[in-house]
Amino acid sequence: MHTIKQMLAANQAWAEKIIRDDPDYFDRAARIQKPELLWIGCSDSRVGPDQLINLPTGSIFVHRNIGNIFATNDLNCLAVLEYALDELKVPNIVVCGHYGCGGVHASLSHSGIQPVDLWLDQIRFIYQRHQKELDKLDENGRWKRLAELNVEAQVHNICRNTIVREAWKRGQKVNVIGLIYDIHDGKLKQLGLEFDSLKAWEACYGDK
Ligand code: CO
Repeated sequence: MHTIKQMLAANQAWAEKIIRDDPDYFDRAARIQKPELLWIGCSDSRVGPDQLINLPTGSIFVHRNIGNIFATNDLNCLAVLEYALDELKVPNIVVCGHYGCGGVHASLSHSGIQPVDLWLDQIRFIYQRHQKELDKLDENGRWKRLAELNVEAQVHNICRNTIVREAWKRGQKVNVIGLIYDIHDGKLKQLGLEFDSLKAWEACYGDK
């Protein structure tokens, strides 16, 4: 286990190495933020996006919470989406779930009244919607499939949101995709979900 003192020392070493390798790095970073994507992922400590896709600092605008949920009644989610699209003009939105997700696993059992239970009710609703399919699988299969269905539902929540729809309507480039990360092998997989226009989304999901 690292101490805070060790973390601060590591930070000093990191900043000094960057300056040695690229003297203008922090000047450039301080001038402008121009990320290539908005990442909506799980808070799980094993699924940090910078490591997974190996992009330099400044590339990813990040929102993470337990279970990678885009909750349309959560001001935090909405503010992140609005800022990403209206101010930063981020061209890609990635919803990334992961296998082995504790939040998804907890959603397979009954709820309670604690904040985490209430938050995860949003995944329990997805479970209920797909119960027929999910109950045919063994526990591990159910856990994995619900993680995928959760990503699908969150992509749907984003595309249905007015902030994204308005951006598409004014011709802004916004590509929304759903990925799943396997903590067992470190690989990301696309879930066949990709929408780059209102028309494309409506053709698939518009009636839901
Ligand atoms: Co998780």
